[in-house]
Amino acid sequence: MPQAPALRSRIAGLGSAFPSQVLTNKDLEKIVDTTDQWISERTGIKERHILRDGEQNSDMGTEASLKAIAAAGLTPMDIDMIIACTTSSDRWMPSMASVVQAKIGAHNGGACFDLLTACAGWMAGLQVADSLVRTGARKNVLVIGSEALSRFMNWKDRSTCVLFGDGAGASVISACKPGEGGEILDIRVGSDGRYGDILDLPGGGSQTPASPAMLEQNFQYIRMNGQEVYKHAVRNMVATCEALMTEHKLTVNDIDWFVPHQANIRIIDTIGKKLGFPAEKVAVNLDRYGNTSSATIPTCFDEYARAGKIKRGQLVLMTTFGGGITWAGGLVRW
Ligand code: ACO
Repeated sequence: MPQAPALRSRIAGLGSAFPSQVLTNKDLEKIVDTTDQWISERTGIKERHILRDGEQNSDMGTEASLKAIAAAGLTPMDIDMIIACTTSSDRWMPSMASVVQAKIGAHNGGACFDLLTACAGWMAGLQVADSLVRTGARKNVLVIGSEALSRFMNWKDRSTCVLFGDGAGASVISACKPGEGGEILDIRVGSDGRYGDILDLPGGGSQTPASPAMLEQNFQYIRMNGQEVYKHAVRNMVATCEALMTEHKLTVNDIDWFVPHQANIRIIDTIGKKLGFPAEKVAVNLDRYGNTSSATIPTCFDEYARAGKIKRGQLVLMTTFGGGITWAGGLVRW
């Protein structure tokens, strides 16, 4: 008996959502001791979207998910697993995936869980979804990268609050029939827990539960050693991309688009140059959204694909880096 060919998986649909409230660098000049020039030159960010009071991370995740499900030609009831990749879920419990399941009306008993891998979240979720779809265990997995990091910013700390924004990207991962676009060719995720302290959110966990003392120490906010993060981000994203290119026997000429994590234009420029990508192959949207952590790659990919820049059949290399520390790389034939 000939063996059935192994299943492949694809990104069947993408969707994005951002809050309507925009915070510009000029607005930030009124909040902390900073300037539009400093932020623009050091980061490339001009503005970011920030949730209003009463708006939740899951609201953005829901909007992005409904767009991704529609783009895949499916309905919410077709989704048999939801992975919400986030470091800023609405509540510790229930999972944000469960909240989104209720909001989109996917009432079919599918599995829901959150995945915390900071900025690398969406790509880690993609690897889980890819594996489960390829074994046939799940048919249509919704992978959401969605962050409300404005809720964890110290708006008195100019070294962090200028960098981040809120936003959500969602994707539906389904089995790939021959000739269908969006095929996931490879996803790699790596971590090195020894460097967990260079980017963390120390309060509110079981180590330091919420208390007046915790608040006095500002442990409810994200802390970062920017220069260490910069160094590890460049090293690990370049190494991941080089490994993928070597193993798939690809040169820069074979790759149509490079979609890197949108944290800082200097990091993007540095890794793009080290890998040899000309600027016109590098997707960038952080000037308008800032660093939306796990949402940067799906939202940037979605924007470029909907605009017709990333075209069907083109080869896309993605890479990301985040707290943990964690990094990832992946190849998709769009
Ligand atoms: N406005 C004005 N001045 C500022 C600001 C600000 N917003 N923030 C810091 N400064 C000052 C510092 O106080 C310091 O002043 P001093 O020289 O008087 O002490 C000076 O600017 C230089 O500070 P550095 O931290 O050395 O600035 P650097 O050039 O390293 O840039 C930055 C800081 C942008 C954070 C950089 O280190 C970086 O991009 N790191 C990567 C971090 C990152 O992207 N994190 C995102 C999360 S992880 C991820 O997604 C990859």
